[in-house]
Amino acid sequence: MSTQRRILLIIGGGIAAFKSLDLIRRLRDRGFAVTPVLTPAAEQFVTPLSASALAAEKVYRDLFDLTDEAEMGHIELSRSADLIVVAPATADLMAKMAHGHANDLASTLLLATDTPVLIAPAMNVRMWEHPATRRNLATLLADGVRTIGPDEGPMACGEFGFGRMAEVPDIVAAVETALADGPLAGRHVVVTSGPTHEPIDPVRYIANRSSGAQGTAIAAALVALGARVSFVTGPASVPPPPGVEVVSVETARQMRDAVMAALPADAGVFAAAVADWRVANAADRKMKKDGSGTPPALEFAENPDILAEISSLTEDRPALVVGFAAETDNVVAHATAKRARKGCDWILANDVSEGTGIMGGSENEVTLISDAGAETWPRMGKDAVARQLAQRIAEALA
Ligand code: CTP
Repeated sequence: MSTQRRILLIIGGGIAAFKSLDLIRRLRDRGFAVTPVLTPAAEQFVTPLSASALAAEKVYRDLFDLTDEAEMGHIELSRSADLIVVAPATADLMAKMAHGHANDLASTLLLATDTPVLIAPAMNVRMWEHPATRRNLATLLADGVRTIGPDEGPMACGEFGFGRMAEVPDIVAAVETALADGPLAGRHVVVTSGPTHEPIDPVRYIANRSSGAQGTAIAAALVALGARVSFVTGPASVPPPPGVEVVSVETARQMRDAVMAALPADAGVFAAAVADWRVANAADRKMKKDGSGTPPALEFAENPDILAEISSLTEDRPALVVGFAAETDNVVAHATAKRARKGCDWILANDVSEGTGIMGGSENEVTLISDAGAETWPRMGKDAVARQLAQRIAEALA
């Protein structure tokens, strides 16, 4: 199931169009797919090639491009996105939108769509303050169009005032707010995932077999419900899901620091397979055979228990802390004891004994242990477990 959301970005013809190239990058950084549309005037400021390269997508420019029509008609194009963003929205584009013109690709897409629209106006301050633009803006707001900016400041034309396009991070934030409609909208969740690598020397490390699949699926399911997710991941073998803020770490101590830095959060889900031990006498140069035939002696030190540490915070403790327990016997008894020992609210326990096929497999059978007792879920795919957990988290935080 793809949870990636798509933005149709209409770039109007104004000096601020150069910022729209950065906007494409920032939107992609946040996990959005971006389909750029350039007006003929926009092409005076940015090239279709740069927009296409940054978006890694085809750029649409011409209403009467028959190849495009064969591949995807303009009606379909206008409805293929989760949100249409017009940036910069020039005075002319706003006027066309307000009056329902459809004489080029951009205006036709805007008239044909039933997708929500966000505009980032940019124009000279006199044009912005002109009664015609005020009327158009009022019409657009009444039509349900969302706006971001313009900002006040010096303008390319040498004047000062309102009319500068909003800064790119503010447009990205407005995009996220416009799309935040799930039960976890406005919630922040920290998720740990994957294994940790504990160095022995600069070229060797101790690791475990965690793929990061379950943590990744949980993060994706939380994003799909509208949460902002800080995804703190060790070197996993599956890529992070779109739409999360990725913090890549290697060691348990780096993971702990990254989790602390990501707080405050409404919930924490600790799905990482954190190494319990690190090598205390890790070498800063590659260890060499000394010819004596005696292997080096590794000394171990205990790593921080991230789940226990976060659970015991007095300030900044997430309202809901969820841990995992992989057990091979007496699953419920061991996991119930682990929940008490670590001080977390929920433990998702699973039986990873040989023969269950769960370790490294695509399915999972979990028992949710909370104040309410132990509740065993039917065996299902790891994606389905993730969606079920995300739903339960949404209910608990509601
Ligand atoms: N965990 C953590 N930091 C650690 C070790 C574990 O945050 N240093 C988290 C894991 O992400 C998981 C939970 O604690 O959510 C369970 O860890 P587990 O290794 O199973 O528990 P242990 O305390 O090691 O208990 P045992 O050795 O009995 O399995």
